[in-house]
Amino acid sequence: MRIGFYQFAPILGNKVANLEKIERTLNTLNTDLIVLPELATTGYLFKSRAALMPLAEKIPDGETTQLLLKIAKKKNFAIVCGLVEKENNNLYNSAVLVTPQGKVYTYRKAHLFFEEKLIFKPGNIRYRAVKYKNTKLGIIICFDYMFPEATRSLALDGAEIICHPSNLILPFGERVTISRAIENRVFFIMANRVGFEKIGKKQVQFWGRSQIISPTGEILAKAGADNEEVQVVNVYHKLASNKNVTKYNNIFKDRRVDLYYQD
Ligand code: ACM
Repeated sequence: MRIGFYQFAPILGNKVANLEKIERTLNTLNTDLIVLPELATTGYLFKSRAALMPLAEKIPDGETTQLLLKIAKKKNFAIVCGLVEKENNNLYNSAVLVTPQGKVYTYRKAHLFFEEKLIFKPGNIRYRAVKYKNTKLGIIICFDYMFPEATRSLALDGAEIICHPSNLILPFGERVTISRAIENRVFFIMANRVGFEKIGKKQVQFWGRSQIISPTGEILAKAGADNEEVQVVNVYHKLASNKNVTKYNNIFKDRRVDLYYQD
């Protein structure tokens, strides 16, 4: 199965240009799955909730999901893409998974980072693996990687490939996501963005270095720190269904839920 990421720099607030660029690039690809960054259609750094509201969309009726569905059908691959979702006057930092068969699955970021808490409502959709082809996919968004329970929930539900649309800012994400892959024995596609955004005194540098990690922690693909690029690799996804670490150790069966802290 071919899986990949598209690392790029969305133009802040210019959804038309971002969607055009996404369509142009995806139309050139030959893959089974492609993952785009968090908030790929709008950019990240907004002054206020009110400023972001006009760019927010319903899923699946909004223009982003409809465009992605069209591309997925035409190109015969699944797409995971971050976007701003609007529902009942609430904004969510969401990602959609669309398939060539027309299926749409939504995930809403549960663990909001820093001032995202002033803009978005935290996600309210349970972690669930989604069937695609002969495998199952799971989605977490950016800062969710810091909460091992999120990836673990998806892996326990059978996800073999974790899709991770990101706008990473903290320096250790690159290393922590390798742990998430190893401890769950899953493939992990970290699709980060590049570029710089500034609004008033606020500014953010995104650090790229998107990566695809194997269930044993090997880096199968790695992007640069500031260039826009697509990388696609061929993986045998069933490697992720083997949870045995040694003859005597199975990463799931050895869990001691009876001893773990429960809130
Ligand atoms: C982040 O969660 N966008 C850092």
